[in-house]
Amino acid sequence: MQNDLARILITREQIQKRVKEMADAISATYADRTRGLVIVPVLAGSIIFLADLIRRLPFKMKIGLLTVSSYRGATTKPGSARLVQDLDLDIKDRHVLVVDDILDTGNTLRVVMGLLQKREPASLRMCVLLRKTAKAPKDLVADFVGFDIEDVFVVGYGLDYNDHYRNWPDIGVLRPELYS
Ligand code: IMP
Ligand code: MG
Repeated sequence: MQNDLARILITREQIQKRVKEMADAISATYADRTRGLVIVPVLAGSIIFLADLIRRLPFKMKIGLLTVSSYRGATTKPGSARLVQDLDLDIKDRHVLVVDDILDTGNTLRVVMGLLQKREPASLRMCVLLRKTAKAPKDLVADFVGFDIEDVFVVGYGLDYNDHYRNWPDIGVLRPELYS
């Protein structure tokens, strides 16, 4: 698996340190209103990040799963985001935190945030581990961001190429010849 990576971009140690900082920031934000908090991970890219993050959030929460498909392999060209599996819990008047792996073109999170906003949550925030600064649209603001990265295709720590590499513990750049 490691042979498929051109280089490591963010090590597992750097990730753990940053996830702890993010959890502290999230805890501070929700300190007075943890009652009714619903975490909505966007599947499947956020699974590993989610597991590490929520174990550092010391309050009661519900987790509502949502699956979105963005129809693409290794390109990061805009794809059309499609809801594959909707939440099975009610978020009206709840504080909702959406968690995703990466904010790239923003198409996926725009669809998700629009959909959830219509359900009248008490508040709606967004947390992403990675953001591609060059491409992320200015009008789609992430409340919590782990790392701003350059515009390269990354895998590992939940991020995939054709559903592979999610289990790699670091975040690395895939060798371009593997997807060209
Ligand atoms: P967006 O809709 O363009 O913002 O892309 C969001 C989704 O595309 C993410 O949730 C990922 O599943 C996928 N994605 C975007 N960039 C990458 C990448 O560099 N590696 C792996 N997946 C990516
Ligand atoms: Mg994803």
